Amino acid sequence: MKIVHVASELFPYVKTGGLADAVGSLASTLADLGHEVAVFVPGYRSVVDHPLTAAAKRTLKLRIEMGDTFMTGEVKAFSPKLNLTVYLVCREEFFDRRFPYGTSERDYEDNHHRFIFFCKGVVETLRFLEFRADVIHGHDWQCGLLPLLVRHAEQRHAVTLAMKTVFTIHNIAFQGVFPMRSFYRTNLPDELMGIDGVEFYGQMSMMKAGILFSDRVTTVSPRYAREIQTPEFGCGLDGVIGTRVDDIVGLLNGIDTNTWNPETDALIPATYSSASLEGKAVCRADLLKRNGFDPNFAGPVIGMVCRLTEQKGVDLVLANEAFFRTENVRLVVLGTGEKRLEEALRTLAAVAPDRVSLCSRHDEAMSHLVEAGSDFFLMPSRFEPCGLNQMYSQAYATVPLVSRVGGLADTVVDADLNPGAGAGITFAPTVEGLAEGLVRMLKLYAEPKRFKAAQLNGMKRDFSWLTAARGYERLYDDAI
Ligand code: ADP
Ligand code: GLC
Repeated sequence: MKIVHVASELFPYVKTGGLADAVGSLASTLADLGHEVAVFVPGYRSVVDHPLTAAAKRTLKLRIEMGDTFMTGEVKAFSPKLNLTVYLVCREEFFDRRFPYGTSERDYEDNHHRFIFFCKGVVETLRFLEFRADVIHGHDWQCGLLPLLVRHAEQRHAVTLAMKTVFTIHNIAFQGVFPMRSFYRTNLPDELMGIDGVEFYGQMSMMKAGILFSDRVTTVSPRYAREIQTPEFGCGLDGVIGTRVDDIVGLLNGIDTNTWNPETDALIPATYSSASLEGKAVCRADLLKRNGFDPNFAGPVIGMVCRLTEQKGVDLVLANEAFFRTENVRLVVLGTGEKRLEEALRTLAAVAPDRVSLCSRHDEAMSHLVEAGSDFFLMPSRFEPCGLNQMYSQAYATVPLVSRVGGLADTVVDADLNPGAGAGITFAPTVEGLAEGLVRMLKLYAEPKRFKAAQLNGMKRDFSWLTAARGYERLYDDAI
């Protein structure tokens, strides 16, 4: 099949979260399976400057209609491996900036223009290259307008760009809602401005457009696919999702086993496998030492790597701060995000420096060390479309402590409820739920046999992308 992926992030070139990992791995695995895969990503400064994109060559000069003006840009392309071509849609005014979406204070004010331009750049490139895709697959709100723009361009220029369009929701909490007055930049027909079109409480919603106008909608776990049909998790779009129930499917993400494998990981001080966890003990001591703790500490070491936001349940951790201040545990948090949560965690680390440590930076190597060196990995998310770290954790014999939502519930089996296969501890996404989970964690750690069994059960799980990619293959086939 000829498959086009379009996303605002792509590992290893640009990443703010799991979206980058998911798109990078899916595209690469589909290429390995023999499909002809093209991936489009904005040519952000960090991407253009990335050593791995040095080979990118200009393929096309762009002249994009944006409302009543035309904007220029260019597309660069390179092929990182067989069957895979990466296209960078560039325009300095939009993408030559320090961050993909904005600073930690606020999003860039022209994000709608930036991503309308991006999607139009994709459409223009496909038209120019006469690519004729079987599937054009867009991810998250930044690509929400893509299905409409594809079909509109096909009509206008009497060409075929794609048999089918697919849209994946990685997080319905981010919807790309902008003032309706910017709709004219899309050059789409005015009738789409209504309630049956992109209109969402008087504004333009790019996420809504993606959900309504693609041939198939997917999200990243079966449970999240059900959750987003409810007011509790749908963030106002549950009704819209409800109109597409027959076309929505939840396909679990996988993990990139080249990057996340304790047997080969070059970012940790010692490797290990299920045959012997000796190397894990070395990683544990290193993690403790680097975070200012006694490397021989014998109690449970809890790791956390995430964006510091409410989604990730950071406020639930803070509400349980007495536990972390007084129990004989060590908590290592690696993350950046909302100022107030970062400040509160910093205060906790200052009050209990012998127990809690905060690394507030993005640090790929440290994220591997936290996965490898921790006994437990904490993810008390209020909602979680899929989540990747709970899968990395299981591969690294680190027992995940997760709230029972979305992809966390779909990938972690509770060790108390199912001793034969259990590899983690699951709890309700509330302050009390986390408190109860932490008590059960102490119990599990105090029983070395049971704890080891949970570690090994996790290592047995197969979360490879092959399974996930096969699921997408079937979905594409079925749609076509
Ligand atoms: P989300 O996409 O909602 O942030 P995921 O669990 O899908 O959550 O993916 C998050 C990814 O980002 C993981 O690969 C995680 O290791 C990584 N990550 C998050 N914060 C940091 C950080 N401060 N340093 C390094 N990696 C991080
Ligand atoms: C989003 C979700 C996360 C998911 C990731 C990749 O960022 O928040 O749960 O794992 O996308 O699909």
